Amino acid sequence: MSKIKILPEILSNKIAAGEVVERPASVVKELLENSLDAGSTRIIVEVEGGGRSLVRVADNGIGMSRDDALLALERYATSKIYKDRDLFSIRTLGFRGEALPSIASVSRFSLVTRDQTAHTGTEIIVEGGKIKKVSEVGAPVGTMVTVRQIFFNTPARRKFLKTAATEMAHIADTVLSIAIGRPNIQFRLDHNGKTVRCWPASPDPTERMIDAIGTDSRAELHRIEHDDPSISINGWISSPRVTRSTSRGIYIYVNGRRVRDRVIQHAIFEGYAGGLMKGCFPVAVLFLTVPFDEVDVNVHPTKNEVRFVQREKIHNAVQSAVSESLRRADRPRWTGTRPSSREKPAISEPSPRYGGEEKNFFPRTDDKENKKNIRVLSTADATQAELWSKKRFGDLRIIGRLHDTYIVCEDDEGLVLLNQHAAHERILFEQLKRAAAAGKPSSQKLLIPETVEFGYREADILERLIPRLKELGLEIEPFGGNTFVVQSVPVLPAGGEIQPLLREIVEKTAEYGVTSGLEKAVDRCLILMACHGAVRANQRLSDEQIKGLLDRLDECDHPSHCPHGRPTWIRWTLAFLEKSFKRIV
Ligand SMILES: Nc1ncnc2c1ncn2[C@@H]1O[C@H](COP(=O)(O)OP(=O)(O)OP(=O)(O)O)[C@@H](O)[C@H]1O
Ligand SMILES: [Mg+2]
Repeated sequence: MSKIKILPEILSNKIAAGEVVERPASVVKELLENSLDAGSTRIIVEVEGGGRSLVRVADNGIGMSRDDALLALERYATSKIYKDRDLFSIRTLGFRGEALPSIASVSRFSLVTRDQTAHTGTEIIVEGGKIKKVSEVGAPVGTMVTVRQIFFNTPARRKFLKTAATEMAHIADTVLSIAIGRPNIQFRLDHNGKTVRCWPASPDPTERMIDAIGTDSRAELHRIEHDDPSISINGWISSPRVTRSTSRGIYIYVNGRRVRDRVIQHAIFEGYAGGLMKGCFPVAVLFLTVPFDEVDVNVHPTKNEVRFVQREKIHNAVQSAVSESLRRADRPRWTGTRPSSREKPAISEPSPRYGGEEKNFFPRTDDKENKKNIRVLSTADATQAELWSKKRFGDLRIIGRLHDTYIVCEDDEGLVLLNQHAAHERILFEQLKRAAAAGKPSSQKLLIPETVEFGYREADILERLIPRLKELGLEIEPFGGNTFVVQSVPVLPAGGEIQPLLREIVEKTAEYGVTSGLEKAVDRCLILMACHGAVRANQRLSDEQIKGLLDRLDECDHPSHCPHGRPTWIRWTLAFLEKSFKRIV
């Protein structure tokens, strides 16, 4: 007798449930996605006991006929794809045809549904995957699925459930993340008979977003808009001042589907161009729209991941959209009341100047280009030019130095302190970056070439990178096997740094593809160079040097923080000072 057997359907459904239904929140996710695919405009989620006792999702979507409802509970039954080709151009959230049978196999389940053509609805009751009863019932058009006692028949899994509060928190996150992606749909979430959240339909997702990312980000969000034929990107990102310690504040949607995507997440980080402190995560809500056949959604049973056909292109588009938005926003305007509310969208800005190599400390700029810009603005719009000139670091009045570490300045509204090291680091970093981009890196030959050895895979990557690295002043030659000789390096901090740098370049490249991995490592390299070259604390600057530093800061794309993400300046308005001195009651 054969030892191999085809599993009974209920058992195979339970196995599928092992992948798809991890906890009550996964049930909520699958049911909500079904409701959205059914074209609903109003969805109610009722939960009891954190979803351990009950999860119910009711919608006003297209509903199902009696026959379809019975079919929907069969494995591999779906109305969303029909042929092979459909699998590579999926427009719906579901397509696997397994969510309902999986959920029904591990719970006490009921489905009430009615489509527009029917006068009565159908109710199907299932227990642990077995259909117990099918009957006609009165019901509105739409669908209501009730899931009680999840995992009642798989005690080992039930044991893994956490407290009602924890499970409820997961459910609230799930509902919220789906609601953000569909602002035009009304959602309500009830727990133990009380409404916890209710978002009316609205063209603008801001309210839902704020629920997700926190009210502290409201004033510090910058709009992202990017459109090209292969991808459109919309959404908001936070200024580098609003950060989180995990990636939970990052919401990424691809064609309406919430996904966790390391490539996009990485691209967002890159877009901050060193503006984030180590270990800090930005807050972001990004909606990406790509052609359906350019993204594979059939990657993971929970459908939380996708694969892009043109990964690097998507990465680069996201990165430049983020950096463009921050660049626009990162011009301080000398208004506002507290140090934390200083970042507002820019009014206008000069075209960046591409200076040559830095030889002197910080030579004064001739400012021709900037002045030209101001002149053009003046003729076009005097008020704008006025505002523009107000927000220049170069226009601050220099009061003096504090401990030869900070530069003390004033403007019409108060006191501004700059950290001389951080500010100079930012200036050098942007300058080095531009020089590298323009193909004029600073490079020095090593007196004694350094040999570096890699693993087989890494050596292969490094070999392919050699020409690109040369453009950055990093000259490397293969030395047989997996060994390489480093001949020239960019002007880097004193010796010993080259090995870890090279390893980082190779690792990042292995992880994110040649372009972005390398760019990341290049930035790290430039940060090191800038840090080394910048003036230190306790180093006295002349008035001329201070003025030069302020002018040069005005030329930076991101003048408000050093490449490590620390602020370059802080300010106190007179109002704040007066309040601190208790002159205002
Ligand atoms: N709320 C609903 N309203 C209308 N039809 C629904 C609803 N929920 C499910 N259906 C129908 O039942 C079918 C099966 O649903 P199920 O969730 O099991 O699979 P799917 O959504 O097609 O794929 P996936 O397993 O990826 O979710 C769907 O294809 C759809 O036709
Ligand atoms: Mg589904």
